[in-house]
Amino acid sequence: MHPQFHEKLNLKDNGHTVEAAGPLTWEDDLESIEIKDVTVQQDDVVASRSDSKTYHKGTDTEWWLDVKSPNQFTRGRALASGVAVVHRKNQKPYEYSWPDEVQLDMPLDLNEIQGNILAGFNKDFASFLFFELPEQAQARAWLHGLVGQVATTEEVQQFNDLFRAIRGRSGREGVVEATWMNLAFTYEGLRALGVGLGELGQFPEEFRQGMRQRAREIGDIGDNHPSRWPNGLGTATIHALMIVAADSIEDRDREVTHFVRHAARHGATLVFQQDGMTRSDAPGHEHFGFKDGISQPGIHGFTVPSDPHKPDAGWPGQDLIAPGEFVLGYPRQGPPAAEPPTPHPPPQPADDPPGPRPEWTRNGSYLVFRRLQQDVKGFRDFVTKQAAQERQSVDLFGAKLMGRYRSGAPLEGAGNAADDPGTTDPAVLDRTRINAFEYSTDPEGTQVPRAAHIRKTYPRDQRPPGEEEGDRRRILRRGIPFGRSFHHGNRPDSPYGADPQFPHDRGLCFVCYQGSIRDQFEFIQHIWANQDSYPEPGAGVDPVISHSSSTRSFGLPGGAVDPVSLPRQWVTATGGEYFFSPSISALGLLSR
Ligand code: HEM
Repeated sequence: MHPQFHEKLNLKDNGHTVEAAGPLTWEDDLESIEIKDVTVQQDDVVASRSDSKTYHKGTDTEWWLDVKSPNQFTRGRALASGVAVVHRKNQKPYEYSWPDEVQLDMPLDLNEIQGNILAGFNKDFASFLFFELPEQAQARAWLHGLVGQVATTEEVQQFNDLFRAIRGRSGREGVVEATWMNLAFTYEGLRALGVGLGELGQFPEEFRQGMRQRAREIGDIGDNHPSRWPNGLGTATIHALMIVAADSIEDRDREVTHFVRHAARHGATLVFQQDGMTRSDAPGHEHFGFKDGISQPGIHGFTVPSDPHKPDAGWPGQDLIAPGEFVLGYPRQGPPAAEPPTPHPPPQPADDPPGPRPEWTRNGSYLVFRRLQQDVKGFRDFVTKQAAQERQSVDLFGAKLMGRYRSGAPLEGAGNAADDPGTTDPAVLDRTRINAFEYSTDPEGTQVPRAAHIRKTYPRDQRPPGEEEGDRRRILRRGIPFGRSFHHGNRPDSPYGADPQFPHDRGLCFVCYQGSIRDQFEFIQHIWANQDSYPEPGAGVDPVISHSSSTRSFGLPGGAVDPVSLPRQWVTATGGEYFFSPSISALGLLSR
């Protein structure tokens, strides 16, 4: 008898527990085996357990023991060892120890995680329904009727795979269709459902406060201040967000009607509805004209590496990130990288390791919704005028602000081409190339300025902050535009989610998922995008999403005018909220 460890051991409890286990093979004279002193070690993280468990011939084909550590393991290799006491018929028991190299893994519970989080709905039409819930019993009854209709990651991933396969084979879309629904709650919403104060107090402060209260922390001042948001988002009590997504406007509207009726029957009030849809004249492009939704983080255990020899990357340029950065209950990326001191270190939030959270938050995720209005005319007029002053083409100067050309072609590595390479050499848009770049070869930002939108919001391997730190700030973006395209009629029968009172109301329903709103969305928005001294003095602010600085400037190394003075913001926050998107079984719990 030679007990072994399985090659792969699963982690649970946020990576604090290893499910140590292995096969048992029984020889004729064996009676039982006792396993004790199991230890698993990964660098400085050690879990061990001295008590023993006995397994018997005839009943057990596998041994297992949970070993716990105060510190967190991550996916990867570890050393495991154990002691076996072997009991043979008519013999004295003997004892021996055995070491093994194992792989620690944490399989994702895809049937538990809501579908928009990891897989993404990717639909052309969406509605965001904001509800105020009635008293507890009725609110639970409302939720009870919805739990079975909430789309899971497993379903959405399978559908997306099928959709891609059929599109690849037939070159057509629309052969298979689906409508999806997901749910999320504010702090007040969880309270309305009857979550006790003790558990509510374990949620992080920024979630408890909500987006309106965090205006100062995220730079929502002036025109962006919550006091200026339209009524439904500015003042209403928001308890729940329902996301409905579909392939056609008819399907979406039918589902919305169904869910609004269901809400009315249970006394839940629809306080605001925000519709969103992809631009029919420029699918996949946001209103300024740039291709969006290109660069998303890959997720360990979910995203399949395109090159089996590079297990830490999805498509080239796509780092795989620990799932705990997006879903609660899984290991996070690890501690922040130690940075060499810089003369002007960026402000960092206090290090506040996540404390205990209610057990039912496992497989949940924090959702940020933001209604961002875009002044397309203002942006385009500025780009045209400033490009002339910089003696750059409109294509190139626009790309300097965004970090990509309008087609999505990367600016890094494009040699400051005047024409969008996506139009002259479409091969650059191939998924093996479109994201395959870093910034360490462009430290001064002579290709991609350090404040360009995509470099501010994800600095890749640039130092500071360094790749490890950058990978801890990733978010899963699930936005969709609202409003008609600028200078395009579109269908006159639909305002496309715009407020008819404002003739130029168009923009982005920005949605992102993360494990910590403070460390991810808020950090990107306020510490990176809004600060002109980040990553170094003179870099300037993110020209697309920065809000707070009254005099906005943008460093443009190599430009005829550097820094560029940005006259005003073109993106204005007109609403938003912080939500928690629970697992499917947690929704069940909350509904009882
Ligand atoms: C109306 C507002 C916004 C517009 C027009 C916009 C536009 C874009 C575009 C065109 C891209 C490049 C496409 C891609 O790489 O997927 C992009 C990437 C990105 N944006 Fe935004 N965005 C907006 C708001 C935001 C906000 C509020 C955040 C976060 C606070 C954000 C974070 C990011 C991130 C993390 C990336 C990916 C960067 C990378 O991985 O290289 N964006 N955005």
